[in-house]
Amino acid sequence: MSSNAENRLIWLNGRIVNLQEATINVLSPTSQFGANVFEGIRCYWNEDKQQLYAFRLPEHYKRLKNSMKMFRMEDKYSIDELKQGLIDVIKANGYKEDIAVRQTVFIDGFGSWMSKGPVNMFIAPIPKGRTLNPTKPGLKCCVSSWERISDKNISPKVKVGANYINSRMAQMEALENGYDSAIFMNTQGKIAEGPGSCFLIVRDGTLITPPVTASILESITRDTIIELAKKELKIKVIERDIDRTELYICDEAFLCGSAMEIVPVLNIDGIAVGNGEPGDITETIKEMYLKVVHGEVKEYFYWLTPIY
Ligand SMILES: Cc1ncc(COP(=O)(O)O)c(C=O)c1O
Repeated sequence: MSSNAENRLIWLNGRIVNLQEATINVLSPTSQFGANVFEGIRCYWNEDKQQLYAFRLPEHYKRLKNSMKMFRMEDKYSIDELKQGLIDVIKANGYKEDIAVRQTVFIDGFGSWMSKGPVNMFIAPIPKGRTLNPTKPGLKCCVSSWERISDKNISPKVKVGANYINSRMAQMEALENGYDSAIFMNTQGKIAEGPGSCFLIVRDGTLITPPVTASILESITRDTIIELAKKELKIKVIERDIDRTELYICDEAFLCGSAMEIVPVLNIDGIAVGNGEPGDITETIKEMYLKVVHGEVKEYFYWLTPIY
């Protein structure tokens, strides 16, 4: 049975409950300090096969466990428990369409910002199609005046709720100044990533993206794109620092992430990217990506976990 956004079913601490009943302690460290780590996971519906596929689940759970370790949380859940909870709650909702799942491990109880536990978890799926409005070909971005957090202060590698204050500042500034989104520079003055996505450019047919040491999240979508570009599309890929001025002379640019998928960036700081329209390489990668995640490319079935 499908349910609406307000009445969907949520997995909370081992029980599947209506969202209205999924409550937590307001004094908990997750509530007070954003002491939670999470994954945004996508599942894609294949109509022909009547199957819903979770995309790159083992990689999401490896990153979730890494976030817990870096954040020094009690390691409460096995990979099997993480996965079973996700499968159970999706089945309980009966979703047969593309969905997004928020899987969050949080510090509950009455502790402080330095508590390691008690650790609890919620898993919240919701229907979600393509992120970009079909009438909008791409985004107008600015380079943010806010610097991306770095591994020397709050590491962007830890996917912790509190990190998103940094993203919030950049996104708010961008919207207030008439842009759709922002691109961060890191403390070295090199291009890092978007507020909730990674960033790639194309120059002379080569795909270029900042390395994982450039103050970015180790993105699963970025990794997927690199592999598909190299192996399937035979596009040269380089992971290296990107200067701000390269954004003004590149041929194509796009943001990527599980939630965002692949979204062309058409203008940066008021300067058109290429001819100001989505580029061929971006579009080719996007098409391939959407086929792979929907279970239409046999070679990449191993990235998919069937739910039903
Ligand atoms: C800051 C940030 N960078 C990059 C990404 C993309 O990561 P992934 O492709 O694993 O979803 C996300 C999305 O979660 C993010 O929040």
